[in-house]
Amino acid sequence: MISDRELIEQAKKAREYAYAPYSKFSVGAALLTENGKVFLGCNIENSSFGLSICAERVALFKAISSGEKVFLKLAVVGSQNTKILPCGACRQVLFEFAPDLIIVSLNHDKVRYCSLKELLPEGFSLRKEK
Ligand code: THU
Repeated sequence: MISDRELIEQAKKAREYAYAPYSKFSVGAALLTENGKVFLGCNIENSSFGLSICAERVALFKAISSGEKVFLKLAVVGSQNTKILPCGACRQVLFEFAPDLIIVSLNHDKVRYCSLKELLPEGFSLRKEK
């Protein structure tokens, strides 16, 4: 299974494809599935700002639309390795599919770990089993 450092390196690679001409803030994400596959995402902005999408959701939607269902870890890196954690909208979207997700992020070049449940306590769910 891929190491956390390697997952972060993958997120950095994804960040190279960020389309962020408006904010100039590039983000990369790498999502690890239970079977060891990694799905990458970058932020993709739009002239109509509200249509922009975060790196985390791009990675998750690529994975879901490829048939993946179980996720272990998400690495996320921002511009120049400044502090980054998934935004509120991404937290809720991730919660739908991976409430037990571990997030590995770069915070000024230091690796930081947290759980999605720490970031989004009592996330909303219509699913009865959660
Ligand atoms: N962004 C992400 O891709 N992920 C985050 O966790 C925070 C913000 C993007 C959205 C926008 O393109 C840019 O970063 C500035 O907000």
